[in-house]
Formats: sequence, C-alpha cells, structure tokens
Amino acid sequence: MGKIKLAIAGVGNCASSLLQGFEYYRDKATADSAGLIHPIIGGYTLADIQVVAAFDVDRRKVGRPLEEAVFAPPNCTTIFHRELPSYGVKVRMGPVLDGVARHMADYPESKAFRVAAEKPCDVAGVLRESGADVLVCYLPVGSEDAVQHYAQACLDAGVAMVNCVPVFIASHPEWSQLFREKNLPVVGDDIKSQLGATIVHRMLAWLMCQRGVRLDRTYQLNTGGNTDFLNMLEQHRLRTKRISKTESVQSQLDTPLPDDCIHIGPSDFVPWQKDNKICFLRTEWRGFGDVPMNMEIRLSVEDSPNSAGMAIDAIRCAKVALDRGIGGPLDEISAVCMKHPPKQASDAESRERLERWIAGTV
Ligand SMILES: NC(=O)c1ccc[n+]([C@@H]2O[C@H](COP(=O)([O-])OP(=O)(O)OC[C@H]3O[C@@H](n4cnc5c(N)ncnc54)[C@H](O)[C@@H]3O)[C@@H](O)[C@H]2O)c1
Repeated sequence: MGKIKLAIAGVGNCASSLLQGFEYYRDKATADSAGLIHPIIGGYTLADIQVVAAFDVDRRKVGRPLEEAVFAPPNCTTIFHRELPSYGVKVRMGPVLDGVARHMADYPESKAFRVAAEKPCDVAGVLRESGADVLVCYLPVGSEDAVQHYAQACLDAGVAMVNCVPVFIASHPEWSQLFREKNLPVVGDDIKSQLGATIVHRMLAWLMCQRGVRLDRTYQLNTGGNTDFLNMLEQHRLRTKRISKTESVQSQLDTPLPDDCIHIGPSDFVPWQKDNKICFLRTEWRGFGDVPMNMEIRLSVEDSPNSAGMAIDAIRCAKVALDRGIGGPLDEISAVCMKHPPKQASDAESRERLERWIAGTV
C-alpha cells in the first residue's frame, strides 16, 4: 500500500490535533482504540498519511518547520501528543485574501492572527512539486475567496480536496462540477465533529420524529475561546456557517421548523475557554395530548480533536477514491463527516452507505 501525501491549508488548532493524532495512533490503531471510527480504510492506516506541504499566513507559522508551527500561538488546543517527527516541510505563505478578519488586530497577539510580511507562494506550484494527493482545507470561517483559491489550486495541480470550512465547494453545483470534470474527489463542506453539538442535535431531531412528538422550537448556543470563535464574532463572516449548521438539523425533521423557531450558531468568544467549546442546547416539543415538554443539554467538548477524528476518515476516503479513479463530490463520506454535504440523509443511513462504499459494493 502506498502513502497518502497530504497538504494542509491553515495550520491552526484543527491541523494541530490532526498531526498529533497521526503520531498518537501510529502503534495503537485497533478496533478498540478510543477515538477512531475506522482504524483502516481501503488498506490505509493513519501511519500511511505523510504530510508533504503546508500553507498559512501567520508570521509565527510561515517559514517555520511544520512540527513547530502547529504549536505556535495563537493555537491553543490540548496537546495530547507533543512529540512530532521532522516532516521536512516548512510552512509556506498562502495568499491572505479574505482569510483574516479585520477585528483580529483589536485582540492581543496571544489570541489573534498576525499576518506575515512575506509574498504569497504559488499554491498550485507548491502542490505539484510536493506530489500531494489530498489537500485538507482548514481556513477560517468566512474566507470565501481564500478557500476558492485553494480549490482552484487543487484543480490546477490535480489534487483531491477535503474542505472542512463552511464555504460551499463540494455542495456547490459549479465547484463540484469542476472537480467532476477533472475526475478529482472532493469531500465537504464544514466538518461535523465526532461527538459534538451538530450530531447530538441531529440525533435528537431525528428521535423526536421517530417517537411521534412535535418539535416546536430549538436553539443551540455555542461559546469558545479559540481563534475560530474569535473570527466568528464578525457576523457577516457567519452567513454560510449558520446555513450549514441549521440545515444539518432541519434535514432530520419530517417538517422543517419555521425560521423564527430555530436558532443555531456560534454565540460568543470567551477567551479562557480556549479550544473548549460549550454548547447549550434546548428543545421544546409537544407530546401526547399536545402536552408541552422540554429538554436542556450542556455539552463541553475540545473542539479540534473532535474534528480531527472525522478528518482522518475523510482524507483516507479521498485517497481511496483517487486509487479507484472516482472523481467529483464523494456523497457517502461527505454525508457522514460534513455538516453541509451535497446530499443529506439520516446518520444511520449515511453510515451504512459509507461502509458499503468503503467495501467497494456501491
Ligand atoms: N470542531 C472543529 O474544530 C470544527 C468543526 C467544524 C468546522 N471547523 C472549521 O475548520 C476551520 C479550521 O478551524 P481551526 O479551529 O483550525 O481554526 P484556526 O483559527 O485555529 O486556524 C485557521 C488557520 O488558518 C490560517 N489562515 C488564515 N487565512 C489563511 C489563508 N488565506 N491561507 C492559509 N492559511 C490561512 C490562520 O493563520 C490559522 O492558522 C474553521 O473554518 C472552522 O470553523 C472546525
């Protein structure tokens, strides 16, 4: 079995957890390992993923060896595996475009992005030279132009894409068609955490339909203290994030709720929470006899390892698709791993379809 050559756009907290995970599971990826859905996919373990290129724009990351850059501020996620190998990869300067929100300058260096003064590299050229198979995109929410720039670079360089950002590529008719025409796999959009607010909220919505009760109103309020939450203080960057998160829950209901009865989204930045995300979830429903009832849940999760647990499957499925000559949006893995896939389905049905896809029987 060959290696999966991986490029990373955005060396933030999610990238940090992903790289730590590759090492953490190097010798202990079994069916019983906590945190893994698939120890092996299409013959690939996590030890088969080799990072060959990385892009960022922060002056504390650009030009540095990747194994140092992932631990540079403002990254603040839990370090569960400090020792990373020497990848022989220096972080390259990407095009900033709309990647950095203006209000970042109003916050201290330890919490916010600081743009490097370097000239941007030719992303497609670097991808070609590195021999990357798959690029995983971890740019900030609201980076429409920047994410599209990396998507175009993938198309130009012949690289598959896993888009973890709520900028619509795999689920956008024109972008997905471009990947189809080049026979390149694309997985997206907006990574769905392994066990986070979205999957819990979706399962509750689905459960209520199964049990014949009528959901009347629901909210999901999320707070965090990482740069993802700081970035999302700017409301206009949040448009597609709200669409992605809301549609993800609405898709599980037989009858979608009216807009003014569902409120889902990032709600505030609380600096000392760092990468710990707190979710307050409330559902109000009517049961037998139209009698009103409600439920409140408080979820506390470490955001970035929670996303890496899904990205590792998305990356390996993208490579399996390359091996099998499959291009365009990968519906099966996207429905399991992403909040805004090209096609929504129930999580149980999606998981079953994915297992058949991995086994090569669909
Ligand atoms: N559970 C999760 O953590 C989760 C879930 C769903 C979606 N996501 C999404 O994944 C993305 C990454 O999350 P994160 O927590 O790693 O964010 P982060 O803020 O820690 O990292 C973003 C990185 O992108 C870099 N960057 C900014 N503009 C750039 C550009 N033009 N080119 C290259 N790099 C650029 C920043 O310097 C930073 O290092 C976000 O969009 C987030 O919303 C994360």
